[in-house]
Amino acid sequence: MEKSSRPPIVTIHGSADEGAVAAALELADLVEAKPDAVLGLATGGTMVGVYAAFVREARARSLDVSRVRTFNLDEYLGLAVDDAKRFRHFMELHLFGPLSIPSEHAHFPDAERAQTDAVGAARDYESAIEAAGGIDLQLLGIGRNGHIAFNEPGSSPDSRTRVIELHGATRADAAPSFGGLAGTPERAITMGMGTILEARALRVLAFGEAKAPVVERMLHGEEDPETPCTFLRGRHGDLAVHLDRDAARLLH
Ligand code: PGA
Repeated sequence: MEKSSRPPIVTIHGSADEGAVAAALELADLVEAKPDAVLGLATGGTMVGVYAAFVREARARSLDVSRVRTFNLDEYLGLAVDDAKRFRHFMELHLFGPLSIPSEHAHFPDAERAQTDAVGAARDYESAIEAAGGIDLQLLGIGRNGHIAFNEPGSSPDSRTRVIELHGATRADAAPSFGGLAGTPERAITMGMGTILEARALRVLAFGEAKAPVVERMLHGEEDPETPCTFLRGRHGDLAVHLDRDAARLLH
């Protein structure tokens, strides 16, 4: 179903913490209103404060999260199941553990299966999202190269869940946590841009000066497959962007 697009609501917060709290409060409001909400979740440094604030808020409101279902955007290929750099571990640490979200409610694309059956793993993830009734609210960070999830430069707006070769800039940004480029994964499985654009609400967060150029392109640039975040602005009816002053530095 085509959605009519509406200009994004852009909020420039006084700090990254304030931006994270704003996103977390919206998540908490959603779960309060709809206890079986389907949340699309993201990993990365930007999300740490969002999940910390959501955990605080959920506890303060005694929110029932036992019926929430979650779908994460992506997962690296080639890491051991117990590798601490798996995105599932990030989510366990920052969100699922603290709120005791049952692991059977927390979905990730199947990175093991994707190594030998990329098409099947991708198809089943799409089917699982559909069977859950679609994603109510999707959190998104942005890579410095403009990626959304692991939709790297060259991704089409219609792309679906698939295995992708990671871009050099993505691997370089991740390298410090893998002890250098040589140990950094080369592939991942990611929701596609088309998959993401089907979520009923999109919430993009970007903090810090390093994101300023790509934020400017996302909000003012032409659509460009080399910068996949440019596909968000004109193709969704409910897009909000939370920035801090540094990330908003180049906006006019
Ligand atoms: P970051 O990553 O939150 O660690 O900056 C964002 C992204 O690459 O999507």
